[in-house]
Amino acid sequence: MTIKEALQEAGAKGYALGHFNVSDSTQLNAIAEVSRELSLPVLIGVSEGERKFLGMHAVAAIINALKKEGVSIFLNADHTHDVEGAKACIDAGFDSVMFDGSKLPIEENIQKTREVVAYAQQSGREVFVEGELGYIGSSSALLDEIPEGAGLQMTTPEEAARFVRETGVSMLAPSVGNIHGMLKNAPEPRLDIPRVGLVAEAAGVPLVLHGGSGTADDDFVAAIKQGVRIVHINTEIRVAYRKGIQAALTENPDEVAPYKYLGRGADELKSVVRARMSLFAGK
Ligand code: G3H
Ligand code: ZN
Repeated sequence: MTIKEALQEAGAKGYALGHFNVSDSTQLNAIAEVSRELSLPVLIGVSEGERKFLGMHAVAAIINALKKEGVSIFLNADHTHDVEGAKACIDAGFDSVMFDGSKLPIEENIQKTREVVAYAQQSGREVFVEGELGYIGSSSALLDEIPEGAGLQMTTPEEAARFVRETGVSMLAPSVGNIHGMLKNAPEPRLDIPRVGLVAEAAGVPLVLHGGSGTADDDFVAAIKQGVRIVHINTEIRVAYRKGIQAALTENPDEVAPYKYLGRGADELKSVVRARMSLFAGK
């Protein structure tokens, strides 16, 4: 299955695929196991920092090996801020690239995103390019407050239509009330569901909902009904992974076998991934 086929199937059946960010191969293998267990395709995201730590070619090689084993798994170069970085990921065999020009003036965002789309088209492979419109914060972390400027300029249907028309992106990440990261002491803001529907219709391409951690389940369900086809989750699985590792080391402070304490982290992470993927798939 290609990423295009996976998205077409999600569109036809009205569900969304889960996209989970990873920093190491333990997390990646745990997510692949859940994908296999639920028989659902899954996307793995590596942002600039994550792929620098994990190794761009190393992660591409693991994904290819999993594909050969029959796992419907796709690799996304998440939040790529420079055109050269996006091109390098296309060359490395990634299935998709998210060019993040959300902090740039719209003209520059369009021009750079278009350059990435042109490069992907010349690659000789099917590489999807996602663009982002509207700043929604930038870190998958536990937050004291909403980051300055995040969510202030929500995406309008007019901007979405223009952006897709002028860049040729295959997917669009809008600002619709979603925020990267998770507030420590307050519930997440609610999504603007009518806006999701209007933006999806105007864009005419699958919408990608970033900043999924902490979002209310009924907001997810409503947004998926309106055209969200991929949901990004990072902070929630970072928290779960760390919680598992911490519990394992607290219970056995002398443990030095990484597969034991990391394994506990992976178990916690899998519970979150299982619950999120099932919700997004309407299971
Ligand atoms: O690209 C990554 C995501 O948008 C993750 O956001 O940390 O709020 O789940 P999150
Ligand atoms: Zn994101």
